[in-house]
Amino acid sequence: MKIQTDFVLSPIDSPSPTDVLVVPVASDTPAQFPAERLVSMIQSLKESGDFNGQPNELLTLYDSMGTSAKKVVLVGVGEKRSQKRSTWNDAIATAIRSVTTKKVDSIAIHTGDLSEDCLLGAIVGAGISTVPTAIRRKESGRFSPRVIYFLVQDNSSKQTVLNRGKIEAEAICLARELVNLPPNELYPETFAAIAQQLGSECGISCEVWDDSRLRAEGMHALVGVGQGSIHPSRLVVLRYFGGGQSSPIAYVGKGVTFDSGGLSLKTTDQMVDMKCDMAGAAVVLSTLTALAKLKAPINAIGIMALAENMPSNNALKLGDVIRARNGKTIEILNTDAEGRVILADALSYAAEQKPAGIVDLATLTGACLIALGTEIAGLMTNHQNWGNKVKLAAENAGERVWQLPMDRDFEEGLKSKIADLRNAPPSRYGGAILGGKFLEQFVNGLPWVHLDIAGPAWSEKESPSRDSGGTGAMVRTMIELGLSLT
Ligand code: BES
Ligand code: MN
Ligand code: ZN
Repeated sequence: MKIQTDFVLSPIDSPSPTDVLVVPVASDTPAQFPAERLVSMIQSLKESGDFNGQPNELLTLYDSMGTSAKKVVLVGVGEKRSQKRSTWNDAIATAIRSVTTKKVDSIAIHTGDLSEDCLLGAIVGAGISTVPTAIRRKESGRFSPRVIYFLVQDNSSKQTVLNRGKIEAEAICLARELVNLPPNELYPETFAAIAQQLGSECGISCEVWDDSRLRAEGMHALVGVGQGSIHPSRLVVLRYFGGGQSSPIAYVGKGVTFDSGGLSLKTTDQMVDMKCDMAGAAVVLSTLTALAKLKAPINAIGIMALAENMPSNNALKLGDVIRARNGKTIEILNTDAEGRVILADALSYAAEQKPAGIVDLATLTGACLIALGTEIAGLMTNHQNWGNKVKLAAENAGERVWQLPMDRDFEEGLKSKIADLRNAPPSRYGGAILGGKFLEQFVNGLPWVHLDIAGPAWSEKESPSRDSGGTGAMVRTMIELGLSLT
């Protein structure tokens, strides 16, 4: 996803004239700004309580206020000491989203002597807010400005931050667009073609395994889930080499381009947003392209398991037993628990690549939504050290994860009467964990983290800082994780 807007660092004391100036205001510190009139205006707005600088608070002043812009948008960033990357992401996104609903040529954002971490948040927040969501509507309702200036005190080291911010924003927009694409356009074959195209553009090798190759490779679980669809399954393997001889990190994504539930058919309400069920694979593709553009000094493998889960006379039946690539047999007792089945093959393959660590991302269970709500990803691991690295990356990136337990006794719920494993547990209790415990059977004891993103991958309603639809959740964390391994 290419962002059309130019991002430019510009010195604070000689700003170019712009249509809009965005001025972030802290709640507990007086504004510092070259324009006297603006500073005293903010002061009196705070005194009267009309604008307090609370996070994402917005106020437009239809006046230049002594600046070189035609109008000024104030946006709150809260208390100075509790500001972090996500604070700035959300505040700047809120401001830019409100501005880009109309045609605007140029915007300046006053970021001053902001820390590099917060500046990154601001750049990413601005970037993702220039891109429309209504990609198949005549009027998308969002106008990308020609240029956004970031007004900074000194720009010596900040060019690197700008570069990363733009690449990260593009990666998030890519993940969101892929999730938002309608399932009649995005299915395993077309998703794989997009991966191939994007891979070749940024120097990532991309291998696509079709139906006959998947069968030859023993990936009967991935084939099985897709066999009820006219769009057969695909496996995509992306390889980015930037780290010499070091062991790679493996990113694995669930890419169910539409989850009808199969013969265990979902209701309309459960099915309506199920084009989002490939969000994990979208994060994998976005992360790999971003790491390549950033020239991260690491090796990374991206594995996307792509399938469309449909009912038909050829679909998986309840009671079918299939053999995954690592030899384990799976009894299908609910065709709607398809994510773990396709990931069984993808994780087996990941483990064969001798990675230093594996992370999988999957919109795996409704149970995780029940447990943690819509904003927090469930984190499960077989290796606390590796789990802590992913947690730290999430914290630094400003995304929320919560670890769920993985005690041995949960394995009771994986037992099948006739096969090694059952795909769906006998009861609904602990559903997110049982998804994780199932996947654990395929990583061959290697350091592995499972992120259940069923909640955060998709947003039903828009908010001031974010469009509805695909959110690009965990792209930031996965880029941060990749960069943290250097
Ligand atoms: N894709 C769904 C999980 C999901 C639900 C994602 C809601 C996003 C929002 C997954 O394939 C699924 O259907 N899981 C079942 C598992 C069950 C049958 C064991 C579920 O959660 O009900
Ligand atoms: Mn399902
Ligand atoms: Zn699913």
